[in-house]
Amino acid sequence: MLFINNEWVDSQSGKTLDTFNPHDGSIIAKVAEGDKTDIDLAVSAAKIAFHRNSEWRLLDASARGQILCRFADLVKRDLQYLADLESYNNGMLINFARWAIAGSEKSIRYIASLADKIQGDTLPADGDVFAYTLKQPMGICGLILPWNVPVLMFINKVVTALAAGCTVVVKPAEQTPLTALALAALLKEAGLPAGVVNVVNGYGPSAGAALTHHPGVAKISFTGSVEVGKLIQKAAGANNLKRVTLELGGKSPLVIMADADLDMAVRTAAFAVFGNQGQMCIAASRLYVQSSIYDKFVEKAVEFAKNIKIGNPSEPTTQHGPQIDEEMMNKVLHYIEKGQQEGGKLLIGGQRIGDQGFYIQPAVFSNVTDDMTIAKEEIFGPVQSILKFDTLEEVIDRANKTSYGLAAGIFTTSVTNALQFSKHVEAGIIWVNNYLSFPPQCPFGGFKDSGIGRENGMDCVNSYLEVKTVNMALSKKF
Ligand code: NAI
Ligand code: MG
Repeated sequence: MLFINNEWVDSQSGKTLDTFNPHDGSIIAKVAEGDKTDIDLAVSAAKIAFHRNSEWRLLDASARGQILCRFADLVKRDLQYLADLESYNNGMLINFARWAIAGSEKSIRYIASLADKIQGDTLPADGDVFAYTLKQPMGICGLILPWNVPVLMFINKVVTALAAGCTVVVKPAEQTPLTALALAALLKEAGLPAGVVNVVNGYGPSAGAALTHHPGVAKISFTGSVEVGKLIQKAAGANNLKRVTLELGGKSPLVIMADADLDMAVRTAAFAVFGNQGQMCIAASRLYVQSSIYDKFVEKAVEFAKNIKIGNPSEPTTQHGPQIDEEMMNKVLHYIEKGQQEGGKLLIGGQRIGDQGFYIQPAVFSNVTDDMTIAKEEIFGPVQSILKFDTLEEVIDRANKTSYGLAAGIFTTSVTNALQFSKHVEAGIIWVNNYLSFPPQCPFGGFKDSGIGRENGMDCVNSYLEVKTVNMALSKKF
């Protein structure tokens, strides 16, 4: 079903798309497949819901926040169900899903608390005038989601747009259509008026492109590949002038200095690239280890990877699950082959496991150099590429030699190293002696080709708001 105007409806064409369980490749559901016609209907519903006299627009800002807090309560109530569904449809480890959804519930509460703190300024304007600013919702927003952390993505984008007072049409990834529908049902239960949130499942070039080209849509927020991010930016200028927030890929460097706590660095570096089967935009896919500890580190990294327990993601003791689908599995296996051809030393893993489902044993490469494909392109899979460096100066330059700029990390006990690295590396998020933490209070997003704009943090609602200046004459001479 599609979710339009708080109702469950079939797609106008009557078409459906199959959705799979990555654990064994079996079809788990047929889901209504929307296209341009359904997007048009959803945008119409969102437009009515955005009318200045609509129930939604007439709500107090604090009441918007309260609906979102109720939504947080319902996500908490249904956490296990949502985590099971996420794990079933995405192949995400059940514990990882629970962790991600529990974090998302906190995000909702944080962002909801901003709804009634959106305020303008009074301005010391020249002339005999009274001038002030209003911050107002942009309008109808198209939110296009990826498949790698579907619940978290839905929540981050939808809740921020709603806190700002916008209405939305969500286009989930075709691989993971289910949790978005479950969350839409919870938003309705929380009391959200009809038409404020609409969910249209479907494919990128049809439903997604219809949304990005729709003249009634004021803004697109997208998370996914750089390739599609560029298409979206183009489409955003094709009819009207849409605002865009883009959260794209990365090739994030993680640097281990010789003075670091070695065991902690080995463990964190593994989680930083194997977590969620490597399907993370922030994956630490370039691991730079200082030459004096390189051999020791590689030995420990291999030992760590060897002991990772691979299996059904719904078992709580499993540490590594399947890739999302056959296409992504083959893409990752291809990178592993290329890594070997170009001279990388595959020390462990890298093979498909079994012939059912989309499992790859986590791979560790040593002797990787900056010019190799596995050190340059986003793999989005469980491939740890270990590179060697001598000095901090050198590694900062090498870290920046990429078109990406999402995240970076350093393990060191020297404050100077940490500060120098944090100042000079071109990335939106820097982790020092940790990796992967992104609390809702902290802005999240990238430099360069990793994106445009930021999600989370105090200013997150601003990217869904327009600033209006009101300039009022106080006398005839101004
Ligand atoms: P994708 O960028 O094609 O898909 C993401 C979303 O965009 C999906 O909802 C898809 O339906 C939609 N989409 C696709 N083409 C579109 C179009 N022309 N107009 C509007 N929407 C469109 O990503 P895909 O193909 O699933 O994965 C390819 C690569 O992208 C991965 O290997 C990975 O490197 C990267 N990726 C990065 C993510 C991140 O978190 N930044 C998430 C998912 C993928
Ligand atoms: Mg694609």
